[in-house]
Amino acid sequence: MSPKRVVVLQRPVDLDDVQAIEALDSMGMFGTARDLPEQCSRALDTAADVPLPAGGPFQNIVVTGLGGSAIGGDLLRVYAFTCLDIPVTVNRGYTLPRFAGPRTLVLAVSFSGNTEETLGAYNEARRRGAAIVAVTSGGQLAAQARRDGVPLITVPGGIAPRSAIGYLFLPLLMLLDRLGLVNGIEAEAAEAVRILRELRIRYDLEAPLTENPAKQMAMNLQGRIPVIWGASTTTEAVAQRWKGQINENAKAPAYWNVLPELNHNEIVGFQAPTDILHRIWLVFLRDPDDHPQVQKRFAVTREIVGKVVAGVSEVEASGKGLLARMFSLIYLGDYVSLYLACRYGINPGPVEVIDRLKSTLAKGE
Ligand code: F6R
Repeated sequence: MSPKRVVVLQRPVDLDDVQAIEALDSMGMFGTARDLPEQCSRALDTAADVPLPAGGPFQNIVVTGLGGSAIGGDLLRVYAFTCLDIPVTVNRGYTLPRFAGPRTLVLAVSFSGNTEETLGAYNEARRRGAAIVAVTSGGQLAAQARRDGVPLITVPGGIAPRSAIGYLFLPLLMLLDRLGLVNGIEAEAAEAVRILRELRIRYDLEAPLTENPAKQMAMNLQGRIPVIWGASTTTEAVAQRWKGQINENAKAPAYWNVLPELNHNEIVGFQAPTDILHRIWLVFLRDPDDHPQVQKRFAVTREIVGKVVAGVSEVEASGKGLLARMFSLIYLGDYVSLYLACRYGINPGPVEVIDRLKSTLAKGE
């Protein structure tokens, strides 16, 4: 039997028609994007008074979460690469890696507090005697952490988890700062907030298509398959964030990968089928701190695949510190995904498929 196909024809929204966009955006996703710099400022305070977990010095850190609650862990892992003496692992599932034990710091992150995989991993961390800090806006995770006497970072709720990237990433860094594992986070975060405020003027709804790089990128990606390529240790988690945001906001496929790894496999897969390759739009996320050889690789890679695909865009991170650079690219991707939703006539907020899956699984069907 052939699969059932539901075809819904939506009308593209003019990206300069602010009223039409606001009418489509029932959950106020643009408003939350606009608020990101302020969210980042507030986020730093949420970890300020939380009791520090006992059990250090830690041998490793495991961030456990899913989707919008896991990507902060990936950003932390990338950030930690150059400045942390212990490994950070991101865990997306019901259990924990075998090495996790009493010398592990487990950061259990769930925006809703009700994601079953994260609750499972939290319970596993309790059984293993790991030190735990829970990060959530409420739900069962908050209730369990309170009951268990586990340090709890409470973040404001009422927005989509993926819109809470400031709340779900920066408190983790602040916590590590307070534990003496990293330093200078406040100054770096202040730079990130400043850069975000500058970029907001360029990317927000009021900036017309002719001058707005986020709107222009969305127009390029419309009708195309976005493939986002970053680089290991700099833009890796940001590339993954772009993909997730396009999936969840624009409800469209997108893929990501990193250099140099993709030069050893994915790059070969650009010879067939040509009709699909012609519909791919590549986005290169560039960071001034990319290894010099990786910078060359971006150029050579563009030469190799540039003619086969529909187009290639290169975007450069802004700012001095890694935090500002990561957030600058995240912000562009967030806005691009929202504008792309508008071009598809799709309400960026609701993620009915995720909700349906969660409730079906919860009912045990
Ligand atoms: C929805 C979103 C999802 C959720 C994920 C886990 O906006 O981003 O990826 O983050 O389903 O749910 P939480 O974050 O509540 O643990």
